[in-house]
Amino acid sequence: MPDTTTWSVADLGDQTGRTFVVTGASSGLGVAITRHLAARGARVIMAVRDTGKGDLVRGRLRAEHPRADLEVRHVDLLDLDTVRRFADGVTPDVLVNNGGIGTVPRRLSPQGVESQLATNHLGHFALTGLLLDRLTAGRDPAVVTVASGLYRLGRLDLDDLAAERRYSPGGAYATSKLANVLFGLELDRRLRAAGSPVRSLLAHPGMAKTDLDRSAPPSARVVGTLLGLVLRQPIDDAVTPILYAATETSAPTGRHIGPGRPLRRARPTFETFSGAATDPDLATRLWSRSAELTGVDIAPAVPRR
Ligand SMILES: NC(=O)c1ccc[n+]([C@@H]2O[C@H](COP(=O)([O-])OP(=O)(O)OC[C@H]3O[C@@H](n4cnc5c(N)ncnc54)[C@H](OP(=O)(O)O)[C@@H]3O)[C@@H](O)[C@H]2O)c1
Repeated sequence: MPDTTTWSVADLGDQTGRTFVVTGASSGLGVAITRHLAARGARVIMAVRDTGKGDLVRGRLRAEHPRADLEVRHVDLLDLDTVRRFADGVTPDVLVNNGGIGTVPRRLSPQGVESQLATNHLGHFALTGLLLDRLTAGRDPAVVTVASGLYRLGRLDLDDLAAERRYSPGGAYATSKLANVLFGLELDRRLRAAGSPVRSLLAHPGMAKTDLDRSAPPSARVVGTLLGLVLRQPIDDAVTPILYAATETSAPTGRHIGPGRPLRRARPTFETFSGAATDPDLATRLWSRSAELTGVDIAPAVPRR
């Protein structure tokens, strides 16, 4: 398999007849993902925590693409009751686990889990599990989890999911992204072992100027802004690897699908994972804890004929 492709968003094919759930579709990358998909005829269910904000975004996108098929639905990834309500009655072909928070002060979810891990990983774990049966019946079904190169800095301590012993906003973000990767890879292994048609892919945008660092301490924001001046990609281009993963059946699982080198137009590259992300034992332990904490047991199955 080559480790890159020349694919760009201009190559995004017709998506008429396919339904995508995009979490975090009310800002940043989620809006750009929604815009590109809707422009190619997809139905997009915008999974947002603030439906007022989601409605405004939908209005803006409809002004650009009057025939855009967009539905705004409420989900708060930190609140598992809303995840269950959201999943009821939604039948997607593709789930894009994109929503998230970054670099926030320490806070706990109702289950007592640090909020970045709870939002970015546990909410998506539950959502994926609740939608998996319906995804199985979809057309070229896929789960795309949006990770980050920062997963390498994550340190997952399953005995301290509340991050009582050690907490830094950036460290906890990296750990939540490590959890995204462990989850995406374990889901891939389980889906393949079960012979499921659903594919689990992992993608990341490199660095893009969004609101993700809005809660970061001022010093971190300054560093981010300076780095961003050099490295950040326009949001519409940064979503290239995510769109590729969500729509191309040749996109590889088990790889980190990224945007390639900074300062160039994004073209999907297929990076291998390293470090704790490749520890299958850690992945299965995270899976069991996630099932316990969310009450959702993900059981891949093959479709009934
Ligand atoms: N930007 C980058 O450079 C970068 C790099 C690597 C990875 N990523 C990943 O890309 C993804 C998108 O981030 P972004 O950069 O587009 O940031 P963003 O502009 O802050 O967007 C994050 C989205 O997630 C939503 N969200 C946050 N908490 C939620 C919750 N509890 N329930 C439901 N939705 C929630 C936000 O809703 P509101 O609109 O209500 O705030 C927002 O729509 C994240 O997974 C992030 O880790 C980003």
